[in-house]
Amino acid sequence: MSLRQAFTLPASQITDEAVYRERRRLLAALAMSPALGLAGCAGAEAPPPSAARPASPEQIKAGLRTNEPLTTYADVTGYNNFYEFGTGKGDPSAAAKTLRLSPWTVAVGGECAKPGKLSLEDLIKGLAPQERVYRLRCVEGWSMVIPWLGVPLADVLKRFEPTAKAKYVAFTTLADRKQMPGIAYPSISWPYREGLRIDEAMHPLTLLATGLYGKPLPQQNGAPLRLVVPWKYGFKSIKSIVAITFVERRPATAWNSLQPDEYGFFSNVNPDVDHPRWSQKTERRIAGTGSKLFAERIPTRLFNGYGEQVASLYAGMNLKTWF
Ligand code: MTE
Repeated sequence: MSLRQAFTLPASQITDEAVYRERRRLLAALAMSPALGLAGCAGAEAPPPSAARPASPEQIKAGLRTNEPLTTYADVTGYNNFYEFGTGKGDPSAAAKTLRLSPWTVAVGGECAKPGKLSLEDLIKGLAPQERVYRLRCVEGWSMVIPWLGVPLADVLKRFEPTAKAKYVAFTTLADRKQMPGIAYPSISWPYREGLRIDEAMHPLTLLATGLYGKPLPQQNGAPLRLVVPWKYGFKSIKSIVAITFVERRPATAWNSLQPDEYGFFSNVNPDVDHPRWSQKTERRIAGTGSKLFAERIPTRLFNGYGEQVASLYAGMNLKTWF
């Protein structure tokens, strides 16, 4: 199986964005119509690509998908944070094409029985890509709704048999001066690093993404492999991962090391904990039809709306102290 096949839906299932959105809209309308419930559609055309299917009530309840309006493909891939390619929102899409995606290896080690350095293909071998439609809330106060493709991080981590000492998981992004012009500037202490507590890493919503909108991840979105943790601020969702390490102590992370009073280790989305320089009560939702970057301001929700799935991870913790 080629890299492309391994990470994406079959080519026959890849739809362009307009078709994708229209199918979702139609199917959502159909699913809501009591007279035309989908099960009753005998003789209707073959089911559309899974990527275009509207979320079922069960999927919404599990947090796996949402039927909220999607952010356009152009906005998801044109308005980015990827400081290795510059600090402007348009810099990554303009500069990241130089990032070589193959061969790509990921070193997995630390507190585990079976460490190894694997090709990306081997890392996710045998795991079928799943589609997740998640909200992504950036600490800067904007948000998107993105249809990702990926595999649950837990399914990958378990293969390395973490030991009882593995209390956290640390992630590292590639830092190659030759390919990443932003590395020349010490905006961050490179390489970009992130970390999760082991129970957060093993949570079923935590995704290792390899694609979006039914296509391979573009470089600017963290190709070929990035983390997506939908209940945390976007900076926890580290891009272009080359190392995953099981560790006993809380690992140092990029933004937290830079400004610990502004960016906590946990960084769970929380409208009641303001950033010292701005409110986190609302967000600009970049989604829906209309002009590029049309953004309506909406209230921010605790855990980005995934509280039902993840609040128990933080039972008994003061979320203001452990922000
Ligand atoms: N990962 C790396 N390596 N470098 C970065 O600058 N930016 C983070 C995160 N992952 C970043 C990163 C931030 S601040 C956000 S909001 C998300 O990526 C943005 O992801 P997107 O560009 O795919 O929307």
